[in-house]
Amino acid sequence: MLKGSSKLSLLDKIRKSGETMTKQTIHVALLGMGTVGSGVYEILMKRQAEHFQDKIGSQLTIKTIMVRNPDKYRDQIAEKINLTTSWQDIIEDDEIDIIVEVMGGIQPSYTYIKEAFQRGKHVVTANKDLMASHGKELHELAKAQKVDLYYEASVMAAIPIIRPLKECLAGNDIEEIVGIMNGTTNYILSKMSSENWTFEEALKEATALGYAEADPSADILGYDAARKAAILANIAFHSPVTFEDVTVEGITKITPQDINHANRLDAVIKLLGIASKKDDKIAVHVHPMLISKHHPLATVNDSYNAVFIRGDAVGDVMFFGRGAGKLPTASAVVGDVIDISRNILSNATGRIGDYTYANYPILPMNQVNSRFYIRLEIEDNYGVLAKIAEIFAKNEISIAEVIQDQQTHGGRAELIIVTHNVLEHHIEQALEDIKKAHVIAKVENTIRVYGDI
Ligand code: NAP
Ligand code: HSE
Repeated sequence: MLKGSSKLSLLDKIRKSGETMTKQTIHVALLGMGTVGSGVYEILMKRQAEHFQDKIGSQLTIKTIMVRNPDKYRDQIAEKINLTTSWQDIIEDDEIDIIVEVMGGIQPSYTYIKEAFQRGKHVVTANKDLMASHGKELHELAKAQKVDLYYEASVMAAIPIIRPLKECLAGNDIEEIVGIMNGTTNYILSKMSSENWTFEEALKEATALGYAEADPSADILGYDAARKAAILANIAFHSPVTFEDVTVEGITKITPQDINHANRLDAVIKLLGIASKKDDKIAVHVHPMLISKHHPLATVNDSYNAVFIRGDAVGDVMFFGRGAGKLPTASAVVGDVIDISRNILSNATGRIGDYTYANYPILPMNQVNSRFYIRLEIEDNYGVLAKIAEIFAKNEISIAEVIQDQQTHGGRAELIIVTHNVLEHHIEQALEDIKKAHVIAKVENTIRVYGDI
């Protein structure tokens, strides 16, 4: 147990006496001063003291910032703020009310947040890696200590989505969440499609703009979007969905040919995260998908993200905004800090605690229905189309559309097939059969299709 953790905090004493808290200043500590941390610093520093006095009824100030390498940051930070490399300087400072964790990664963030709760400190984090793997446990610990754990920035940065789901939409049974949940990959796909940039050029620029994770493979392999999908599914379906429950596929297999063919089919390719509940089973998956140009998500480009939520009472609601970047992400973090400050001042912390009370099973991906785009390189010869049609029929797959491009090279042609809705395991079997059939050269790509195109 941490030194002093058994003592009653000022907040506990006030709770026991039933009084409302009066506090001159709410003190904040920042863990991390990178892209997001520097944005939080900028927003909090540019507001005048009176601004917070009017807005929340007390002043709000950054007291301490922790980083690994202080020399990098000394010139950017006002003298009155402590710059430290020591966690003890923060956890043992009883004046600090709210800890903002914007370092990233599982450790040491996980340990620090748990210690912060034990000390009665509230936490804001932008860390989806942590929330997608340890969210349930951290919620339970925060609830036990009657402190707040807020993480709005962890899912789609600037876009308010966690609080709307937990509060405004709480009266709904949520049926589906579908959206573009990663700014880096949306930026890359948008630039490949509209400016003919290569994948590498677009990734380099997304990294320079501060959109990508410290290790951008988390973005391009779909893991970042999968973490966000897990967090949303957890909240929406009140079930302990974690990153491991999400079927995930990134955008590395998307080629300029696929983008061009999608265009011919009046569609675009987007990395979509989908969480749905049907017949008391949950499906959570992230894939690149073709989506009709007429769907609102198709027009969401650059680092913008957007998500549709369908509830039994509300119908469809759409949320849209910047899904990555310094100030958009900091906007969500500061919003959380302000909300917690209000809770502290009105003696209402821990109000929205653990929400994981159901335990719906996860549907295996091969039991999920999708439409498919399949790009084949085939022998340009008689009998080939008939053979493919036979394989599809044998596997109960109905074809919606076929495009054949004449002789690409060496007597080969490119064949694009779009299917109707089919169970994934039927497609898996058909692709196996196609690979074995002698008339066919190669399955070049398989991409799922969202909705009608
Ligand atoms: P970043 O630019 O890499 O910054 C990380 C900061 O944390 C740096 O100041 C670093 O200090 C500090 N840090 C890292 N490990 C530390 C440790 N063990 N002890 C002390 N300080 C440590 O990262 P970021 O882009 O701001 O992302 C931060 C978090 O926000 C991540 O969880 C990320 O997933 C999330 N997020 C980011 C965005 C975005 O658009 N960037 C959007 C939403 C959510 P040094 O420089 O001294 O090492
Ligand atoms: N790397 C993430 C993205 C940051 O590109 O969406 C926001 O979570």
